[in-house]
Amino acid sequence: ETVRENAPGAAKIMLVGGAVRDALLGKHPTDLDVVVSGADVIEVAEHSGLNFKCYPQYGNATLSLPNGNHLDLIQARDEYYTFPGASPTVMKGTLEQDLARRDFTINALALQLTPEVRLLDLHDGLSDLGAGLLRVLHPLSFMEDPSRIVRGARLAVRLGFRLEERTLSTIPDALPHAASAIKRLKSELMLVFQERTPGAVFETLKGWGAEELYGFGDLTALKRADEERRRGEHVPTETLMALWLHSFPESERKQVARKWQIPKRTREVADLIQPGNFGRMNDWEFLYWCLLNPEQAREYEVLRLTPPRQVTGRELLELGMKPGSQLGQLLEHLKNLREEEKVSSFEEEMQAAKT
Ligand code: CTP
Repeated sequence: ETVRENAPGAAKIMLVGGAVRDALLGKHPTDLDVVVSGADVIEVAEHSGLNFKCYPQYGNATLSLPNGNHLDLIQARDEYYTFPGASPTVMKGTLEQDLARRDFTINALALQLTPEVRLLDLHDGLSDLGAGLLRVLHPLSFMEDPSRIVRGARLAVRLGFRLEERTLSTIPDALPHAASAIKRLKSELMLVFQERTPGAVFETLKGWGAEELYGFGDLTALKRADEERRRGEHVPTETLMALWLHSFPESERKQVARKWQIPKRTREVADLIQPGNFGRMNDWEFLYWCLLNPEQAREYEVLRLTPPRQVTGRELLELGMKPGSQLGQLLEHLKNLREEEKVSSFEEEMQAAKT
């Protein structure tokens, strides 16, 4: 409202992208992207009366809203690709051009704020939003930017949407251009790990015949991690990345980690984890081991992601015990003590385990 009411006369302003899509889906977007044409972004920011930071080299300004959220003001732009996979060449454009350069119809919806408030649906995004479909705006979209396939997979999983058939059929022609888009694919890979269920995103890519973008292997452990997250458990990003890397054959892991700039510690975790070494593992490393070895983890009752009420195999492993029958016997002994009410707290059980 503030931006709209204080906009300079000639300014055309519209709310765009994920915020419009999510608001129409009944969610509450916090990242607001607002595109400006017919006026300078800095001028609009100054008129708003709000605090802002500006980035003139990008034609952007970030306004601080009274509720603590931020609003990005962006100069309307047009862009073209000099070759498939190239970084786009960007220039000033109209609101219409700014919408036409976007990836999916559901992301090309806009809420125009000035001179009047109205929904701009120039690419039939509204009907795709209703039908749960991801559709590119033109057949060369994936070829120009193959990282959009990954964006599509993230959205498909997050929103429960399907890739429209013709869009799906453009994937094979886009894949040979992936090497030119390596930088954007790298950022997309990190964003995949920020999604709630990354295993499902990789599986979706596989279902679309696009697994070669990252070339992963067996996804079983990663999907197990998805399952834990669906149940509301906390699984850190590092665990997911390590599991993904582990899906590659051992001989390829070093090269894959280098290509996608995976941190060294994440790459080395598989070698660090040896029975007897559990005490030196931090939480995400321990979880990695559990998700890779669910049978053992269950056997020793260590696949537990919530705080302990009783001593389990995990605490015993952390005390330095090795997996094996002795550990099983000690767990049995502690269970008896509990049943006989000889111990009545976690601390007392720990004490008993140590002695
Ligand atoms: N976009 C695109 N091609 C890309 C990256 C982005 O066309 N390779 C467009 C999309 O239409 C997107 C907009 O740029 O709506 C802004 O991108 P981004 O901020 O990453 O996405 P949002 O839509 O804001 O949010 P979300 O990540 O939730 O989709």
